[in-house]
Amino acid sequence: MRIQMVSRNLEQTDALAKTFTKIIRPPMIILLNGDLGSGKTTFVKSLVKYLGSNDEVTSPTFTLLNTYNGNFPIYHFDMYRLSSMEEALAVGFEEYFDKSRLDGVCLVEWAENVEGLIPEVDFVITIDKINDRTRKITIKQGN
Ligand SMILES: Nc1ncnc2c1ncn2[C@@H]1O[C@H](COP(=O)(O)OP(=O)(O)O)[C@@H](O)[C@H]1O
Ligand SMILES: [Mg+2]
Repeated sequence: MRIQMVSRNLEQTDALAKTFTKIIRPPMIILLNGDLGSGKTTFVKSLVKYLGSNDEVTSPTFTLLNTYNGNFPIYHFDMYRLSSMEEALAVGFEEYFDKSRLDGVCLVEWAENVEGLIPEVDFVITIDKINDRTRKITIKQGN
């Protein structure tokens, strides 16, 4: 499955996230790819809201992981500051990506920095910045 759309503003990005949440259920691992400022955290904010959480979503660039309480636990990772799978193992992240034990959903920014850490991916969301407000958003199933 591959869905692609052009979002012309925040409302359209929010609406796509809302539709996408209808097929999200634990245990799922979702990666978000795209340059800095493309809209990964913005997309996560909408997902978290529509997954039933009122928790504040912040970019976990320094903390690496934020956990939100929605209809199920939501684990929001930002691997920007990690540079290898070994570093991710050192902070104990591999247990989250074991789907036989995962009790919620993982949303992962900058997963490309920890290549090899996540064996089984459900969806990859790629956001391309076209201009100030326009984004091309692609949702692809599997690795
Ligand atoms: N159509 C759009 N969809 C998503 N974000 C948009 C859009 N137009 C403008 N933006 C802005 O782009 C920025 C994206 O920032 P952020 O989500 O933190 O990016 P990232 O997490 O990819 O580094 C936000 O300031 C957001 O308001
Ligand atoms: Mg971000």
